[in-house]
Amino acid sequence: MASSLEEKLKLLNKGISDLKESNKSPKPMSGANALKNKMDALKPMNSGIHKPVANLQLRKKSMDWRGALLKRVMSIVEKHAGITLNNSHEEKLLRQIDKLTDQSELEQWVSSLEVMGNRHGDLQALIEYLTVHETYFYRDPQQFNGVREEVFPEIFKRKLSGQKKIKVWSAACSSGEEPYTLIILLLDELIKKSYASEKSGGIVTDWSIDVLGTDISSKIIQTASRGLYSGGPLGSFRGMPKALMRFFSEGEKNANNKLAFINYTVKPFVKKLARFKLFNLTSNRPPETGFDIVFCRNVMIYFNDDVKKQVQKTLYDALGPGGALVLGPTDILMIPELFTLHRRRGYTYYVKK
Ligand SMILES: C[S@@+](CC[C@H](N)C(=O)[O-])C[C@H]1O[C@@H](n2cnc3c(N)ncnc32)[C@H](O)[C@@H]1O
Repeated sequence: MASSLEEKLKLLNKGISDLKESNKSPKPMSGANALKNKMDALKPMNSGIHKPVANLQLRKKSMDWRGALLKRVMSIVEKHAGITLNNSHEEKLLRQIDKLTDQSELEQWVSSLEVMGNRHGDLQALIEYLTVHETYFYRDPQQFNGVREEVFPEIFKRKLSGQKKIKVWSAACSSGEEPYTLIILLLDELIKKSYASEKSGGIVTDWSIDVLGTDISSKIIQTASRGLYSGGPLGSFRGMPKALMRFFSEGEKNANNKLAFINYTVKPFVKKLARFKLFNLTSNRPPETGFDIVFCRNVMIYFNDDVKKQVQKTLYDALGPGGALVLGPTDILMIPELFTLHRRRGYTYYVKK
């Protein structure tokens, strides 16, 4: 799914060496090499094992110049991605900063990020480094089941006599499991209602489905567009009902993978109903409008209340009349006056007033 931490660290490292070049600094390259060595020394830490003692040391160090720089980096990320950094982000960054000894080099790099913002190539790398892409098919099944049982029939009823087009947005879609799940459930429900039939490896229907998946990470959007997923026990299919696996084809086993999990690829007739785009949710305007359903789950936790409110207004603007919004199971709607609440046992959705 996401690229390795090492790759991300290399990108950050590249930022500093690029900066040196662009400043035509007379400093010898040995600084950058030393930096790279230190980053390589980080590799054993990638196990993800939590070490309270190490964390304490990191906390202490955050009191010195590294701490001041960390705060500046955190506010750059918050300004551009809306992400309020939590303890785990902080530790990730401190591990990074802690290995750097050249204060002025790092300060220059942070200053250049502050001044250039989006025009600085490394800002995207920094955001990629800090975003969490955890997702899988049919995640939080109660929400999907609820939408299938209540929201889909309402849309079918509304559109039966007009343009039979269903438009869905999966905002912050990560590697694509959420938008593909929505397509598969829509197709399965159309078949169940006899509005569509499965024929020779495809679907015959006069309904059209258009699902847009967006995310702030360009790498994860590339993964989503590929539509290829590993079938390991902790992989993308951990929550997928067996009956819905018919929408995937078995791919080749990965020869380098000792456990040799089978890969599955989304069947072409499913894939062609999905579109993927880079989109930052903190942009004030939606990427498109007229959506019948918007899913935006497991991302609000990274935003402060003001950003949540602003993002939810963008989601509201994206919905067409009577459109339904689904947030993460623990998310709170900050603009309840704009929606009708449908709270059910195990799931909630909001309909645009
Ligand atoms: C944990 S994943 C959630 C994926 C999927 N929605 C789900 O619930 O399984 C969170 C995603 O939010 C994305 N993200 C974080 N900040 C964002 C922003 N400001 N705009 C768009 N996407 C963002 C991350 O890149 C990541 O892929």
